[in-house]
Amino acid sequence: MDVLSVFRTCRKRVFVVGFAIGAVLAFLFFKTEHISSVKGSCRPEKRKLPNYGDWFAGKGLSRWPVNFDAFVYGKPEGATEAAFLEKEVSVLCAVFVRKVKNARAVKDTWGKHCNAIVFFGMQFDDSIPIVTFQPKNSFHFLCLSINHITNQYHDVQWILFVHDDMFVVPENLRYYVAPLDYNVPYYLGHPLTFWGQIYNVAEAGYVLSKASLKSIQMKFNSSEKCYNAGKYWKNEDFYLGKHLGNMGIFPKDTRDVGDHSRFHGNNFNQLLFPGRLSKLSSYWKKSLYPQIEGFGCCSNKSITFHGVEGDKLYTLEYLVHRLRVFRSPCIVGNKPAPTPFPVEQVWQQFLKAEGRESFSISAKEYFELWQNKISAPDAFNERMRQEHMNDVEATAVGFANMPHVLESMLSAVRANDSDNI
Ligand SMILES: *[C@@H]1O[C@H](CO)[C@@H](O)[C@H](O)[C@H]1NC(C)=O
Ligand SMILES: *[C@@H]1O[C@H](CO)[C@@H](O)[C@H](O)[C@H]1NC(C)=O
Ligand SMILES: *[C@@H]1O[C@H](CO)[C@@H](O)[C@H](O)[C@H]1NC(C)=O
Repeated sequence: MDVLSVFRTCRKRVFVVGFAIGAVLAFLFFKTEHISSVKGSCRPEKRKLPNYGDWFAGKGLSRWPVNFDAFVYGKPEGATEAAFLEKEVSVLCAVFVRKVKNARAVKDTWGKHCNAIVFFGMQFDDSIPIVTFQPKNSFHFLCLSINHITNQYHDVQWILFVHDDMFVVPENLRYYVAPLDYNVPYYLGHPLTFWGQIYNVAEAGYVLSKASLKSIQMKFNSSEKCYNAGKYWKNEDFYLGKHLGNMGIFPKDTRDVGDHSRFHGNNFNQLLFPGRLSKLSSYWKKSLYPQIEGFGCCSNKSITFHGVEGDKLYTLEYLVHRLRVFRSPCIVGNKPAPTPFPVEQVWQQFLKAEGRESFSISAKEYFELWQNKISAPDAFNERMRQEHMNDVEATAVGFANMPHVLESMLSAVRANDSDNI
């Protein structure tokens, strides 16, 4: 197929390079017609997608840093942003199974991060639930799967289609699509152009919004229609792009602000090791937005990686979700709160403030002293009000005035402290 390359330029011209026999030319004329019927710019729109920050702000929510100790050892106040997105943005992962071993690994690892997961295959296996079909071509298979999803999963918003040899970060997909309306047709992935057709390549995985899924399902709502809409194997992605394109649904530029890809049709070795993605490979020629090699390859919020066999998924799951780099001591754990004075002096100040002359006190007595202060806030407030009448408004001293009360107490302690110096 590489003898023929068709490129669309911004002036919407079509160059045909290579050897072509009559039949192929006829096909190309048909394709050319198709190309010029594509409206709008010649490439998927660049970065027109709404921005996550604006969407989040529009929700009327606010964010604040989570105390890591509380996050790890206790209950953080409020929900983390990822947990919020998990509720708000529902992702169904549809995995095409070639090797059961890989499917099991997906289920044990990144599959757990999807809101729901469904495996499609051609062979039943009793160790993992696989929805099986006996398709006659690869679009037939995809199309039957799409029909299955529309019939069985009614509240899906976003559907990610991947093969079983991929590593996926569903959290980053939610982050990416959160600002988008799933009732609008979207078709997101890594766009290639082949024979004048722009489509999202299966190796990188692709995402349909509910509206796009429905459009395909309504057009091909029987096994026969699905079968007739494709030919041969390993080209379901091409046919999907073609059928969606006919309905006016095209891929978008899914790169991040720094032009780094989010959907990767290559594996980590090929992406990260400079020089591995040969510039002559057909991938480079066909990719609309060729990938940068090395660390610049990939968005920090990447969603998919191709070519990762099941055994490696466990390693990646650990590296991505568990491994933490220890950077310096006392960042995590029982770090004492910073105080301007030595720790002993704090309790001594407290005893002084309580009118005690001597510092000899048992732990129990000390505890009771505190408990007395804390467990009777009204009495405490009342006393503070009397002591610091000048500082504190006399009206409505309750919890609302606590910061005020504490502040005046602190300044009193500070004043006494500097007297001592
Ligand atoms: C498929 O869609 C056609 C209209 O496009 C409709 O007449 C037909 O009943 C549908 N078939 C099924 C099985 O839903
Ligand atoms: C991605 O991460 C690197 C390393 O932490 C950082 O330098 C860079 O600014 C990040 N890029 C974006 C777009 O956030
Ligand atoms: C500060 O010192 C004065 C006199 O030394 C004492 O009356 C007062 O209770 C002290 N206040 C506090 C909060 O320690």
